[in-house]
Amino acid sequence: MKLLLTGARVIDPAQKIDAKMDVLVENGKIAKIGTGPFSTAKTKDAGKIKIIDLTDMIICPGLIDMHTHLREPGQEYKETVASGAKAAVAGGFSSIACMPNTDPINDNRSITEFVKRKAVEANLANVYPIGAISRQSAGEQLTEFWDLKEAGIVALSDDGKPVMDAALMRHALEYGHSLSLPIISHCEDTNLSAGGLMNEGYYSTILGLGGIPVSAEEVMVSRDILIAEFTRTGIHIAHVSTEGSVRLIREAKKRGLKVTAETAPHYFTLTDESLQTYNTSLKVNPPLRSAEDIKAIKEGLADGTLDAIASDHAPHARTDKELEFEYAANGISGLETSLALSLRLVNDGVLTWPELIAKMSTNPAQILNLPKGTIAAGADADITVIDPQLKWTVDVKTFYSKGKNSPFHGWEMKGKAILTIVGGEIKYALPSLNL
Ligand code: DOR
Repeated sequence: MKLLLTGARVIDPAQKIDAKMDVLVENGKIAKIGTGPFSTAKTKDAGKIKIIDLTDMIICPGLIDMHTHLREPGQEYKETVASGAKAAVAGGFSSIACMPNTDPINDNRSITEFVKRKAVEANLANVYPIGAISRQSAGEQLTEFWDLKEAGIVALSDDGKPVMDAALMRHALEYGHSLSLPIISHCEDTNLSAGGLMNEGYYSTILGLGGIPVSAEEVMVSRDILIAEFTRTGIHIAHVSTEGSVRLIREAKKRGLKVTAETAPHYFTLTDESLQTYNTSLKVNPPLRSAEDIKAIKEGLADGTLDAIASDHAPHARTDKELEFEYAANGISGLETSLALSLRLVNDGVLTWPELIAKMSTNPAQILNLPKGTIAAGADADITVIDPQLKWTVDVKTFYSKGKNSPFHGWEMKGKAILTIVGGEIKYALPSLNL
């Protein structure tokens, strides 16, 4: 199918494009992008081309969520590859990278191949598995990096759990580097976080909930930067939540180290003050922090310290969340609110549009070495179309994700993905578009 997308503002940070242009999609690829030749295409082939008028909309490279939890295999009642991929395209993501903390853990090629097969069957978003650093993510023995790479992983992480053994992390960085596999670190010193349920501070004290100090994250960020430095490799820091982590990453970058980092929308949107409701949909790891941390994260996003925004989509069932705070699972179902929450950064003047698109597409593609993140002629036709003015209300009942665990239920949002194209095919279109 040929598609001609006309009239929109096209933003592609990889090509430094931010202008009104047309985009022609043919055979799954971007055939042309520009202004000139499209009028002829329109008239000559009009019958064979589906022309979509996108006046007042934004066209950008398909968004990439580099940190998603799908629950298949093992916990399909929380999310399957198919339900997660459906939530992804509905949220504007043409590609997602999924963490290995399934059951069993993705620590061997048969699980990687299984997830990939499920993704092909779902035929929605591109799904890139991330393999475990250690067997069963137990932090003791490295997995077979080469075998996992051959099976199709794009990075390695024990996310959900930290790699507590510094020597194991050293070997992971060295071995991963030799195979061009990025290592994604869940930074948490479990001795410091032990017994913690929320950010350690004023609110944990008055609520009587065990605290997780910012240092639980920061000592590990610091350690991993040091190990990356002495091994002359690189490291990607997942879900940054504290002011100190932002500072450490900023300093490391200034010293020329290959450190990249992401944060998630809840870490620049909500503080630990909100936990006074004891609402378990606010329980997440790392925990929601303070207003000062949010300020630092926004500064880190604005000055480029934080390269990416990832959803950390962590779907859970009601039975995992409707429990006493202590027993409730950690995580927020984020794929369908991530873009709108991130757009608030643009509306509030923290980021420009191109900066936001870079953090949600161009940079994740670069960090994971994916041949994505641009709509240059010849590239795969992965495209997200955003209506920047569309007002909507978050309603978890309408989520495609099985995970309805969102603290943003009922929030008024401005801006939404209205069309997600993957490999030249429309995988999601807002029903009112009548496509
Ligand atoms: O809140 C979280 N949920 N943090 C993690 O690190 C893991 C994730 C999950 O898998 O549910």
